[in-house]
Amino acid sequence: MDIAKVCVVGGGTMGNGIAHVFALKGFSVTLVESSRELAENALAVIARNMARQVVKGALAGPDRDAALGRLRGAASIAEAAGFELAVEAVPERLEIKTAVFKELERHGAPGAILATNTSSLPITEIAAAVKDPSRVIGMHFMNPVPIMKLVEIIRGKLTSEETTAAVKALAEKLGKIPAVANDSPGFVSNRVLMPMINEAIQCLHEGVSTKEDIDTIMKLGMGHPMGPIALADYIGLDVCLAIMEVLDNAFMGSKYRPSELLRRMVVEGKLGVKSGSGFYEYPKK
Ligand code: CAA
Repeated sequence: MDIAKVCVVGGGTMGNGIAHVFALKGFSVTLVESSRELAENALAVIARNMARQVVKGALAGPDRDAALGRLRGAASIAEAAGFELAVEAVPERLEIKTAVFKELERHGAPGAILATNTSSLPITEIAAAVKDPSRVIGMHFMNPVPIMKLVEIIRGKLTSEETTAAVKALAEKLGKIPAVANDSPGFVSNRVLMPMINEAIQCLHEGVSTKEDIDTIMKLGMGHPMGPIALADYIGLDVCLAIMEVLDNAFMGSKYRPSELLRRMVVEGKLGVKSGSGFYEYPKK
């Protein structure tokens, strides 16, 4: 099936980034939020991020205008009816995601592909919410979506070869590099990344080093673009904790136990960049 109409559900950091890249590459995109106001706010964030690309010379003004013209906000999935692809990026709670997938199944074009951007929930369980799980797949974008090249594609137990091939081709059309993983806790990206971040937080907790030096060691010593403590703030400490809990429940080894310091930060509402305060401070600009 040719994919021209895309429905993105959720307008947070990941959802707006996903809508952004699809619109830039010529797809007609409906971004669905729980209210019209939230949808409009998400579109405003996309406009700001595109403006930033124009200022940097990475995007021509007319291309930006055309992309914005292909984007619209909606307050229900029904308003996006007839889409050939949906990408869900709502909060990481299975019951919220399964409710969204039931709606997506009702309103998609026949044979539409239903993708989830989940960072750690089982694709196979999400797919169980719909009648045809062969069309359900993980399409895991990385933050910031307009910049990061990877799309981790996760095959559920019943995802078809056709769906996998179509989503790989789509990722390439977006200018991204697809890499495929089977459905396993944390997939590859977060199974490898999160224990590293958690260990860095534990080093801080035990006084092994300061947050600045931990970040410098990993940034300059390992060639990472950001240190793990700064990256945790960037991803969101609540998201990091939720992923560590998925790994801990699945594998139960001590290396997956979330650091007490990570737990404490989340309880205190220090979630990183999005809350203005995490391991570092982020004053409002
Ligand atoms: N929209 C558009 N452009 C954006 C952007 C956005 N949301 N965010 C950043 N950019 C652009 C900037 O405009 C800039 O463009 P130029 O290169 O043309 O100048 C470029 O990205 C770099 O940004 P900055 O100059 O502000 O800052 P930087 O050079 O320090 O890079 C960074 C910032 C891209 C975030 C870089 O530090 C980086 O790659 N960090 C690691 C990010 C990472 O690991 N992401 C994966 C997290 S894990 C995940 O997402 C999955 C999960 O499930 C948890």
